[in-house]
Amino acid sequence: MATEPLFQEVLQIVDAAVLTLRRLSRSGQTGFDCNEKTRNVLKGWGKGVSAGETLEDIRTDLGDCQRCGLNAGRTRIVFGAGDPDARLVFVGEGPGYEEDRQGEPFVGAAGRLLTKIIGAMGLTRDRVYICNVVKCRPPGNRNPLPDEMDQCLPFLKRQIKSIQPRVICALGSVAAHALLGTEAPISRLRGRFHDWEGIPLMPSYHPAYLLRNPEKKRDVWEDMKQIMALLDGSRNAG
Ligand code: URA
Repeated sequence: MATEPLFQEVLQIVDAAVLTLRRLSRSGQTGFDCNEKTRNVLKGWGKGVSAGETLEDIRTDLGDCQRCGLNAGRTRIVFGAGDPDARLVFVGEGPGYEEDRQGEPFVGAAGRLLTKIIGAMGLTRDRVYICNVVKCRPPGNRNPLPDEMDQCLPFLKRQIKSIQPRVICALGSVAAHALLGTEAPISRLRGRFHDWEGIPLMPSYHPAYLLRNPEKKRDVWEDMKQIMALLDGSRNAG
């Protein structure tokens, strides 16, 4: 028992070493000598580890994922898209038909509405980051099952930690519940910021729900205005 924290620490060091070696091999370093290039790479080691992993590292680790049954029905993994340094991350539920075909999040009918919402906020899709709780399409667009979310959630968390956004917007109850660990209805969660590991998180209605319930667009706009105010405030604060 007493060795447990030490064991965790060793695992973290091994993980960091693996990431660093991957980066090194991508930058063409396959061995160690004392030339200047190698010395510069080695100098960057500490920086690389403390700065955390990149989205590319996480995508590489996800690989040709077979961790849950969703791989059987998917065409493509939909990892996420947008700015790796985005100040705002949108998290949806999981890819639908179009997303599965194209490998991009939110490119179907709900995605077109999300793109309009992002535009109304004075942003573009490539200035935010868009991803989902699960990276593969659940058959028939059903909600992801608990074990599917359990397998995928660590990757979403790593994506958010890599991006370090100023604010997260959880689109719909699946994303809000997965990130906040609550089962409260989205109608009660939305409209105010919650905390996700030190980052403000605004739950809001999913764009697919808005397509069926356009009268809720007003509520979503209120949520987006709060996000815009927070982003403006943090920009002014430096
Ligand atoms: N719905 C989602 O939750 N995510 C997508 O990427 C598309 C539709």
